[in-house]
Amino acid sequence: MIHLHRVSLHYPRTKTLALYEVNLEIKRGEFVFLVGPSGAGKSSLLNLVLRRYHPTRGAVYVEGVNLRKLRGHRVALYRRRVGVVFQDHRLLPRRTVEENLAFVLRVRGVPRREWPERIARVLRTVGLSHKKRAFPEALSVGEAQRVAVARALIGEPQILLADEPTGNLDRDNALAVLELFKLAHAKGTTVVFATHARELVEAYPQRVVALKAGQLVADRRPGRMEA
Ligand SMILES: Nc1ncnc2c1ncn2[C@@H]1O[C@H](COP(=O)(O)OP(=O)(O)OP(=O)(O)O)[C@@H](O)[C@H]1O
Ligand SMILES: [Mg+2]
Repeated sequence: MIHLHRVSLHYPRTKTLALYEVNLEIKRGEFVFLVGPSGAGKSSLLNLVLRRYHPTRGAVYVEGVNLRKLRGHRVALYRRRVGVVFQDHRLLPRRTVEENLAFVLRVRGVPRREWPERIARVLRTVGLSHKKRAFPEALSVGEAQRVAVARALIGEPQILLADEPTGNLDRDNALAVLELFKLAHAKGTTVVFATHARELVEAYPQRVVALKAGQLVADRRPGRMEA
């Protein structure tokens, strides 16, 4: 599904080699934790899969397509298949929860008559049906982050990328957000989940890929931070 072939990424502005010769293959339907210290290259790797950047060397393939070859509207079509959640919720502040979700459906061209059902369903999944008319500032940090996950899920992406989505949350809220990713995984979504949180890795025994100073230093089976 996602294949990084000898990927290096050099940021010219800061002369940083963020990734070096990374080889990684993620199968369809897999759940992968991406771990490693600050500056290891986790966000850089996710940004390559999002096609925010191109690798300096090597190539990123998704379902056999080299992302470098995607042009024009095919980039937008590709990004629609990818859901993203960041550390901060990034909701539109002047829009209610349901308007934030509707915004995604509009961009994707989903017929308006389907919106209420799609929004109701995803809000039930994240347990926030009662907050659909709330504005983001009226939500707790944990609730806002669950809406951010709902926004990523409502487009029914094949790939879900998460960049420390629980970084601002306490343990209970972090585990609640992890549960949502587990549900998506159970439905067949391919998930790449960057995190520092050992307790999440231990709570959901899945493949763990570790980066250090831009290199892939470990790739291990379920539930262990250490090699
Ligand atoms: N947009 C950018 N421009 C220049 N250098 C960058 C940029 N983004 C990241 N870097 C550098 O690339 C290296 C890898 O950063 P990256 O953000 O990928 O690490 P990370 O593993 O996500 O770290 P953290 O856990 O702190 O989020 C770091 O040395 C960082 O300073
Ligand atoms: Mg990061």
